[in-house]
Amino acid sequence: MRVVVLASGRGSNLQALIAAEHSGRLPIRIVGVLSDKPAAKALELAVEAGIPAIAVDPRTTANRLEFDRKLFAEVEALDAQLVVLAGFMRILDPLAFEPWLGRIINIHPSLLPRHPGLHTHRRVLEAGDTRHGASVHFVTAELDGGPLIAQVVIDVSPDDSAEGLAERLLPMEHRLLASSVGLIASGRLHWSTEGLSLDGTPLDRPLQLQADDSLARQSKSSQR
Ligand code: GRF
Repeated sequence: MRVVVLASGRGSNLQALIAAEHSGRLPIRIVGVLSDKPAAKALELAVEAGIPAIAVDPRTTANRLEFDRKLFAEVEALDAQLVVLAGFMRILDPLAFEPWLGRIINIHPSLLPRHPGLHTHRRVLEAGDTRHGASVHFVTAELDGGPLIAQVVIDVSPDDSAEGLAERLLPMEHRLLASSVGLIASGRLHWSTEGLSLDGTPLDRPLQLQADDSLARQSKSSQR
């Protein structure tokens, strides 16, 4: 499956996908990396891996929709089959990505629907949550609100700091994203008007990352 990654920053999730592709674990080819930040580390990582790296600078477009259209014209030109938002820090106009619905996913550092938006680690601590985690979901018009594919859960301890939580979660995010992309790329997971399905059976709760990096269904009773 031809994958295009959109990233604004350091690109550690991108790096995890590159590593997974190179190891032969995932049936994907990352055919391009796009960023709204010309100096993003993610673009450097792409170049190092021999992947086309393209900056679309918002300062060169008149407004948000024009930027988004330019971005998705690049995605189209790369002949992408799946778009992965991995730390892409802009809100996209649904008009621009409508043709991509069901083929565009995002990784978010919280147990959605809790804590959409920014500063999730700090907000988890402020709210006194005892669990935290990350979610991969299909992108829709609602910010961090599309159908959930999979999650990974970590416990929050009273002496955790926001930085500590972020650091502890990041390697789990990498595994969660690679495994989620793997399910889509192998044709096992779909989202259509009928909802999400895995292996042809409806998926009504997010899958959970297991110790061996597989993603398992959770029964209602196993939800904590
Ligand atoms: C990750 O925490 C991801 O969940 C969030 O932004 C961060 C990106 O990190 N959407 P990186 O650029 O992949 O290192």
